[in-house]
Amino acid sequence: SVGAGDRPGQGGTGFSKKGFILAAIGSSVGLGNMWKFPYITGENGGAAFFLLFIICLVVVGLPILLAEMTIGRGGRSNASASLFNLTNKKHWKWFGLISIVTAFLIMSYYGVVAGWTMHYMIQSFSGALSDVNMDYAAAFLGFAGGYMPLFWSAVVMAITGFVIAKGVSSGIEKFNKILIPGFLILLLILMVRALTLPGAMEGAEFFLKPDFSKLNEESVLIALGHSFFSLSLGMGCMLTYGSYVQKDQSLGKASLAIAGGDLLYAFVAGLVIFPTVFAYGMEPSSGVGLAFIALPAAFAQMPLGFLFGGLFFLLLAIAALTSAVSILEVPVAYAMEQWKWSRKKTAIILASFAFLLGVPSALSVEGTSGPLSNLLIFGKTIFDLFDFSTSYILMPIGGLIITLFTGYAWKRAGEEAGLTGGIYRTWMFLLRYVCPLLIILIFLYSVGVLDF
Ligand code: PHE
Repeated sequence: SVGAGDRPGQGGTGFSKKGFILAAIGSSVGLGNMWKFPYITGENGGAAFFLLFIICLVVVGLPILLAEMTIGRGGRSNASASLFNLTNKKHWKWFGLISIVTAFLIMSYYGVVAGWTMHYMIQSFSGALSDVNMDYAAAFLGFAGGYMPLFWSAVVMAITGFVIAKGVSSGIEKFNKILIPGFLILLLILMVRALTLPGAMEGAEFFLKPDFSKLNEESVLIALGHSFFSLSLGMGCMLTYGSYVQKDQSLGKASLAIAGGDLLYAFVAGLVIFPTVFAYGMEPSSGVGLAFIALPAAFAQMPLGFLFGGLFFLLLAIAALTSAVSILEVPVAYAMEQWKWSRKKTAIILASFAFLLGVPSALSVEGTSGPLSNLLIFGKTIFDLFDFSTSYILMPIGGLIITLFTGYAWKRAGEEAGLTGGIYRTWMFLLRYVCPLLIILIFLYSVGVLDF
């Protein structure tokens, strides 16, 4: 039978209870936690923004996270067929397909960035990033504009495909069970190192000092959008993982654990990054500039910096890989079930296609001399176009579909989620009115219709 060996009740075991929580945390803890969250927190009033982010996680993140997992477990299938199974209405299949396409598009360029982290890890451990006089910006642009990233993205796709080919419990679950606890230990080691550097407190202050005057409408939308991205919502990921969950696992408790885990990792990441950056007089920034330019330059000045820098990039690589596995599993689960392919064949074919689709992104990074870096479509490089269209257009649409499906179309969500009474009514209220409205606001803001 199709999908046999994957799902409880379909001839498989699915995730163990602990394994599911770890795999879902593995999905949610990614580059977003490590290089975006700390920065937007520092920029938007520190602890004040942190509080705002927690509110967004509770009001928008948690209800949708729970909805996705509930749909997956109730529909017992991939992100498209589950919606159909629960309503018997054809159009929901098509709506679900949007998230599968989104996941595949995200995978193509996420693999490229994951590859960068692996290259930097090797470079750091080997001592090649220990030169204090090196121009780290030029080094990054030279690397990202060359062909080397193609090799590394192939490595990422191979690892991801391999883990997925091994199956849900002996592949995905095992991978996360080893890496996610190890990740926290490494992160805590780096935190102690960072906080004991001379001048570290200035960095901790930038990250956490509450400044409510910096909060504005824009911060609210940033916090909302990030709570979405950070929990891996809106592209079928938590839905697909949810389809492998045992019937007697509490999804409500699971969603609290996942959101709490996501927050914890983001918090500790901030306590690693800013003390390190400030201690060595680097400018705090976000994304590529923070991870591949400011931090390597700071580690170069640190005693044993090759080791701490190497560990830091190892962390980034783990964060990216455990997220990548969850992203590619979305189209893999679909293709297996739709076309009745074996898991192994599906994993190999889709990982290869994701690699090919990522090639134009890898060769088009802005500011580099990459062969496609001057080709602009809608004013954006191919790399930025993939990122923008998935994060700001397709993921909000996917999230909207989930809220409307659970709030209006599927009548038995409460039963599957195990919610009753006031909690159920609150969940429905959020899914029916609050979440859709806020998602539409994020969307309008992202595409530039709303401006502050
Ligand atoms: N949640 C991941 C992060 O914070 C990114 C991600 C998005 C992973 C969507 C899976 C699906 O980096």
